[in-house]
Formats: sequence, structure tokens, C-alpha cells
Amino acid sequence: MAPRYQLFCPVIKIHVSIPLLDRANTKYTVSFVAPSNKDTIAKLRFSEAARGQTVTLHGYLGHSRTPSKKLTFVEFFGPELDEQIQLVSIVEVSGQHVHESLRHKKALTPAVIKGQIKVKSAPTVTERDKQQVPNEIELLEIHVLNEFSNDVDNSHSLGPDQRHLQLKSSSQLRQALQFRSQIYNAACTELTAQAYQHIETPLLFRSTSEGAREFLVPTRQRGLAYALPQSPQQYKQLLMASGIPRYFQMARCFRDEDMRADRQPEFTQLDLERAFASGRDVMADVERLVRRIIQKIPAPYGGTTLQIPEDSAFDTLTYHQAMSKYGIDKPDLRLEYSIKRIDHLLPVDLISKISPLHQPAVDISMFSAPESMESNPSRMREFISTFLDAPDATTYNSNPHGGPGVFIYDSRSPLSGLQAFGFEAAEEVERLFEPRDGDLLLIQARPNEEFTGGSTALGRLMIDLNKSALDQNLKTLSKELKFLWVVDFPLFTPVSTGEESQRKFTELQSTHHPFTSPKTAEDVDLLITNPRAAIADHYDLVVNGVEVGGGSRRIHNAAVQRFIMEQVLKLPVGKVEEFAHLLEALGTGCPPHAGFALGFDRFIAVLLGEYSVRSVMAFPKWGKGDDPLVKAPAQVSDEDWKIYKLSPMS
Ligand code: AMO
Repeated sequence: MAPRYQLFCPVIKIHVSIPLLDRANTKYTVSFVAPSNKDTIAKLRFSEAARGQTVTLHGYLGHSRTPSKKLTFVEFFGPELDEQIQLVSIVEVSGQHVHESLRHKKALTPAVIKGQIKVKSAPTVTERDKQQVPNEIELLEIHVLNEFSNDVDNSHSLGPDQRHLQLKSSSQLRQALQFRSQIYNAACTELTAQAYQHIETPLLFRSTSEGAREFLVPTRQRGLAYALPQSPQQYKQLLMASGIPRYFQMARCFRDEDMRADRQPEFTQLDLERAFASGRDVMADVERLVRRIIQKIPAPYGGTTLQIPEDSAFDTLTYHQAMSKYGIDKPDLRLEYSIKRIDHLLPVDLISKISPLHQPAVDISMFSAPESMESNPSRMREFISTFLDAPDATTYNSNPHGGPGVFIYDSRSPLSGLQAFGFEAAEEVERLFEPRDGDLLLIQARPNEEFTGGSTALGRLMIDLNKSALDQNLKTLSKELKFLWVVDFPLFTPVSTGEESQRKFTELQSTHHPFTSPKTAEDVDLLITNPRAAIADHYDLVVNGVEVGGGSRRIHNAAVQRFIMEQVLKLPVGKVEEFAHLLEALGTGCPPHAGFALGFDRFIAVLLGEYSVRSVMAFPKWGKGDDPLVKAPAQVSDEDWKIYKLSPMS
């Protein structure tokens, strides 16, 4: 049928410059051939049976060598990038075109290759040797799947703005991610076996005064913002109030804090919570979880020995024991030092020389001479002088409570170098520490009051001295994993105000978070009579000096929770109302519950013996919390600010 009308369109010619498109190659790359073989590169390289086979493989080109115009050798890596086999391109076999296309290809260019597996040709190889000689692939075809831009220099050390290339070129980083993935799966399997169910909680939460500084997410409604969760703490307690018996989640958490080697603004927690449970129940579950996941890991992996004996429970120290014995609430049990209190034995004039404080507590510890300094007091004198003269030691020398008193044990000196201690104290020190010539004894004053915070000056000094000795290869540290529970923290910590010399503790803050339950019936009474003395049912899991996780039994009673917020923490009414959702949920028959969160990044870093969590994260943040690869955070246009009813200037 003829059309009932006709359209007349003027022909418009537009001249646009279109980038050159290699159509043939683009067509190939959208339907590139599958590999002929499931064997890994390593297997093909060493298999005698594979010799003579023609194979098609996916992978990356590596460095090439061209001994003559007609011969090129190229490394070829499988998709995992960790194993390689040699490709040989001979013009007579592969043709000039294939041979040419190999030339000038940058390392890490993805390609599909076709070739025949042959035993590596070497003039000296005898028939018998051939069994040990690896295979190579005589190239027949090559299809480059994408170019590696010549504008990108990947021959030098790569910065975080090229994180994708850091990952691509570092098998250690890729292995860390692979390891992390294995642990992730093992943890999910184990918790599922323990009847915990995985539940995702929202990332768009509301702002509450839980502890850390939050990241806010503006909305299009004037004055309203979400907050990203610093942890799923409140949602998991709401789940307990919702009748969920056991919850777990691999949870993304966000905290706007200063960065450190073990701290990222965005990180992952393996978070869990259990109804009708005490702290002890949860600690037992966590211990089983940690054992099982470690048992499933092929050992040795990374730098650490991963076995933990099945029958021995993790060590436990109270906060007070950890602080008094190690001067830190997360001791590394592999470091062989201990701290003792000694002020009751020291002469008053010695104490007044090391501290301006009135009747301070004075602690002592011994740093044993490394092998190279044994019986050599002058070597130890040199070591400690260099240490204390370094800029990093300013914190010890300018401590307002006084700097460290330094003594080197030397049997040739009067009272073996401990003359200032007086006879009685020197004898006690010898009994406690059994020093040998060259050992270092350090005394340090501190206010004579209950421990607060995470460490004492002497604890930090002992750790730094050990670190310095390790860095200088004077000492070595065992690679085993020393797990430790630290329990019985004070429920509240005084907020210190005023100058160091006139400190006043007028207000209290939660040592961990405001939802932590008092430990015993007596601690409940102390909430009213002396909250500062109340002990928390809180437990930290520490491995080799790193706090890898923490948890607690929670307050499940709305009246107690409100009492703590209003009467102990003295939160203003508006701040308490930020928690209205939780108080209301606790008031609707919420069962007793307890939980825990494993800092997943830190846990993986410790298992692999890595210093920084960045080494086990694909795209960590750097500097002031930025991601230089994607350039986040980024400027937002005026238009966008308007949409969110915000102004960049306000
Ligand atoms: P907490 O604040 O102690 O407890 O966090 C639990 C664990 O998370 C890890 N962690 C971090 N890892 C990397 N970067 C950070 N910025 C960072 N902050 C913490 C640590 C820490 O031990 N809701 C409670 C847990 C609970 O009570 O169940 C909480 O978040 O390894």
C-alpha cells in the first residue's frame, strides 16, 4: 500500500571530529573467545602432559625481550596475575602481524593468546632434564583486549592516586584482599552455624551523641540530615527489642576522626548481638568464632603463625591489671616486660627529683639488654641516650608529671648503678627483676589516683623502646598470635578539665558507649552512690597489642538507660531525646542482650602481620580522609548546594 503522506527532511551535514575507533578490535573485544583450558598457568607451565597442546588463554602481557628481529620473548600472566609462563613469538610461526602486535606493548596489557605448549628450548637440556624444565608457549595468535595508555607511567613507585595500579602490580596487596575474602566467608559460615542471622541495617541513620564525630548526609528538606552510622549499635539493639534472637552483619561504619595506621574514617565491623545472653555467653561465641575461622585458613599465611590451641582459653586481664602490669589497656603479651609500683620504697629526694607531683605513684620497669648489649652497660647508655634525644621523645621529656628516671644496671658500680634507690629499694628491684649488666631500669611518676585512659607514660615508653629495638633489628618478636580479653573497665571515665597541674574531674563520660551495662548488683548500687567506681560488663579483644574488637552486655531497661543518660552523664534533655527510639524500644519488653564488634580491617591486618589497615583494604582513605584515586571529597556545584538548601559559605 502506498504511504498516505511523505516526510521531507532536509539533509543536514554536521562535521564532528570522532576519535578514531579501531572497529575490528572493538568488535573482537565485545565477543572475545573463551579460554580453551581451565588449568592455571602454573599447572600448564609444569605439566608434561600438556606439551603439544594448542591452547587459548586469557591474561596479561608482561615484560618482553627481543633478542633478534624474528624472535620475541614475553612473560604472560594468568587473570590472577600471580603465575607466569613464557610466550615465544617466532616470525616464521606466528607471522609478521602477530609478531609486530607484541612489540611495544606495556606490561599489564590484557590479551587473549593462542599458542602451542612446548618444553622450553635450551641448548643444554637433555632428554632426562626435560621433566624438570618448564614449558613455554609458541605464539600463534594474539588479540590485545585493551591498550595500556602510554601516558601512564607505571615503571616508578605508584601513589594512592593510582590505587588500581598499586593493586594490579602488588601481589601482596592482592593476596591480602584474597585472604580477607576467605576470612569473611569463614566468619559468615561459622556465625550461621552458631544460629546468628545476617541482617542489614540502614546506612542512612540519624545523628545521635553516641561517641565519635559523625558524617552527615544532607537532604532536600531544609534543616534535615541523615547521619552515617558510626556502628550499627542502636539498630542491633532495636533488633533485640524486635524479637530477633541472634544477629550479625558485616557492617560498614563511618567515623569522622583523625586517621592513624589502625584507624580509617570508613571501615568494616563484624558486628553481632544475642538476646537472653550475658557478656560471658558472647565472649564464648566470639572465642569459638575466632578459633574456627583461624583453623580454616591455610597456614602459614602472611607473616603470622595462625594456629591457636583448641583447649586453652584466651588469657584474660582486668583493665586494672593491664594498666598496672603493662601500663596499657591493650598489652602485647609478646613483649617481655612488666611494671611494678615502687614509690613506697624509694627515697623522697629521688621522687622529688623525677616529679613535681606531691606524693605521686612511681612505677618501675626493666628493658632487658638485647643480646648485642648484654654485659655492656655503655652500649645501653648509648641506645637510651639516642632514644631520649630524638624529637619523638619530647613527649617523655616534657611530661608535666616528670620525665623518666633512667638507671643502667652495672655490677661494677656502687649498688650496681642503683645507688639513688637506697639499699632497700635496690634490693627489692634485684629481687623483682633479676637484672643483668646492661639492663635498663626506668622509673616514672604519675598522679596517685585510679587509672584512666588507655595508657600510662611508662607503658608507652616501654612499647616505644621495644619498637625502637625492633626497628634497629636489636630484638625480634615472635610471630604467634597472643589473644587476650581485657575486662572490667570502669563504666565511666572522668572528663578532665583545666590545666594539667590543676585537673578537675567534674563530669563523667561513658568509657565505651552509653548503652553498656553495669557488671554486678553492687555496680548497679554504685550508679547512685559513686558512679565513678562502677565497673562495666565490657570486654575488649586484644591481639598482639591491637584492640581488634569490643563488646558489652547492654542496658535493656529503659528506666536504667534514662537514669544513666540524665543523672550520671547529665546529657541535656535534647540529647537524651535523640535516643527516644531506643528508650521506647527498651520499654516494650526488650530482653537482656549482649554483643560484640570485631574491627574486621584491624583483625585482618593483625593476622597478616601488617602495620596499617590500608594494606588490607582495596580503596582506603589517605591524608585528611581523602581518596586521591576518585578525588573524594569533591567540590559540589552551587546548583547542588541549592538543592540541599545549603550554602558552601555558611
Ligand atoms: P568500638 O567503637 O570499640 O565498638 O569498635 C569496635 C572495633 O572496631 C574497630 N574500629 C576501627 N577500625 C578501623 N578504623 C576505625 N576508625 C575504627 N574504630 C573502631 C576496632 C574496635 O575494637 N558498637 C560497639 C561494639 C559493641 O559494643 O558491640 C563499637 O563500635 O577494632
